Amino acid sequence: MELKKHLLFALAIPAFAAIAFAAGGGGGGARAGTRGGAPASLLGSMQDMQTMVLALKKDAADPDKIEQTLKVLAQLERDIAIAKMQRPPVDRVPDAEKGLVDYRTFMTVLQRTALDLEDAVVAKKPDEIKKLIAKFDELEQAGHDEFR
Ligand code: HEM
Repeated sequence: MELKKHLLFALAIPAFAAIAFAAGGGGGGARAGTRGGAPASLLGSMQDMQTMVLALKKDAADPDKIEQTLKVLAQLERDIAIAKMQRPPVDRVPDAEKGLVDYRTFMTVLQRTALDLEDAVVAKKPDEIKKLIAKFDELEQAGHDEFR
């Protein structure tokens, strides 16, 4: 009887842990996907990108806010990666195949710009920071001109 009790207890611990883990959303990725974290559509990723670019315009050149800016940049890079995984609205352009290629190019240039901006922020180069943020605006303008 005593042995049975111990056995039941031993089985209950991992079961309880599994339920707690599932309720908590599992790993970080699952949590981010289900708890108001990562956007899951092209429009959602774009809207989040806009929020991040606005935050960068406000604070990226401030050397006292480097840690905060690097987090904003990481989120922007995540949003760009999510946008990359979506199918762009190629029905809005005359040549769908070219549209796909152009879209991918826009996204990789955006990613590179974000990475260059990370370097400029860490190196505390305000002129470079402003130049790279202006590039986001140019890319947004060009991308939207083509697709909307
Ligand atoms: C940092 C640069 C960019 C920002 C901040 C940005 C921001 C946005 C925002 C806020 C929207 C939603 C507008 C709305 O609510 O109607 C949007 C939509 C869109 N953007 Fe961007 N964008 C950027 C760059 C680009 C680039 C380079 C492309 C390349 C093609 C692009 C393609 C699109 C498309 C296709 C939509 C429409 C999505 C839909 O209707 O579902 N964007 N963008």
